[in-house]
Amino acid sequence: MQLNDKFEILQNPGFEFWEEHLANIYKYEGWTYSKHDFNSWKAAFGDRVNHFALVEKDTKKYIGGVFSATYTLPKLLAVGMYFLLPEYRGLGLGLPLWDRGIAGDVENKALIAAEKMSPKYALRDGFDKIIEWDLKKTSIQIKDVDSTKLDIDTTLKTSNFKEVDFEKLMEFDRKITGGLERAAYIKEFFTQPGAYNKVVISQEGEILGYCNIRECYHNNLVVGPFYAQNLLVASTILRAALESIPNLNNFEILKMAVPSSNSDAKKLFDILSTGKCKIDAKNFIQFTNHLMNIPGDKIYAVTDCTVSYA
Ligand SMILES: CC(C)(COP(=O)(O)OP(=O)(O)OC[C@H]1O[C@@H](n2cnc3c(N)ncnc32)[C@H](O)[C@@H]1OP(=O)(O)O)[C@@H](O)C(=O)NCCC(=O)NCCS
Repeated sequence: MQLNDKFEILQNPGFEFWEEHLANIYKYEGWTYSKHDFNSWKAAFGDRVNHFALVEKDTKKYIGGVFSATYTLPKLLAVGMYFLLPEYRGLGLGLPLWDRGIAGDVENKALIAAEKMSPKYALRDGFDKIIEWDLKKTSIQIKDVDSTKLDIDTTLKTSNFKEVDFEKLMEFDRKITGGLERAAYIKEFFTQPGAYNKVVISQEGEILGYCNIRECYHNNLVVGPFYAQNLLVASTILRAALESIPNLNNFEILKMAVPSSNSDAKKLFDILSTGKCKIDAKNFIQFTNHLMNIPGDKIYAVTDCTVSYA
């Protein structure tokens, strides 16, 4: 698809465009990310992460954007945060932007699709290998969060990310992502400003799960990755992670994207909020070449919906 000569696509136009994108995707779609995310992606992926911004050629006025990141093992491109200002939609401007986002000679491509876009991605560019369960975009008002309702297994050790054997953590991580090597990304993501995380370890020293919660745009907290072997482990980690946030009551909403296949996750967030958690939308995890083997019953919240698929 070609753009007409009033518009152009800028590659990695800088932090101001990133911030404008963050503000707009929140305002119009309710999607919330941390302003530090792009720096974490840059540090982890280097020139394998791209922000493509659609602008008016003369004025460089922001119109929209899309992001992609490429992993090397396996060679997989993840694409997301695809958005145009409402007044520029339906004019044929989205597709040329999208084509920049998905360009790349890789084995497999992945995305997390909004429900209405899911069949379109499948049809146009072959994102038709779709995980059988969906993701429920879930939110809880912070005033309804009561971490003391969460059970704890006192035989388990709750550690900080920096204290654990990182290679063991990544071994666990690869079991959840279907073998994706993303050590650099996890390291950056867990240590970025405004990220709170805990890891739970058995008495034998085995990693049983971890939970990251990060401060995001507009006083939101977003949970992910949040992986656990079972409900009690999940409950133990979530409570520890929430209680490590010093100013929890200054935030408004806790958000997460939760696999429909994990009935324990729904149970856990219901306990946390005494049944006040709200499901806003349904998303689908889609690939072009083959499905990654993701155990949906161990995921309580996916990492993020742009550079991750689990
Ligand atoms: C998604 C979005 C960026 C597409 O922009 P757009 O202005 O509709 O793009 P175009 O005018 O180039 O699209 C022409 C057609 O191709 C479709 N299309 C756009 N991008 C597409 C893609 N990546 N794959 C397949 N189809 C696509 C459009 O839906 C439209 O279909 P229609 O003629 O049946 O209505 C825009 O609708 C938007 O910002 N939506 C809100 C945010 C959102 O849902 N993003 C996607 C999250 S997964």
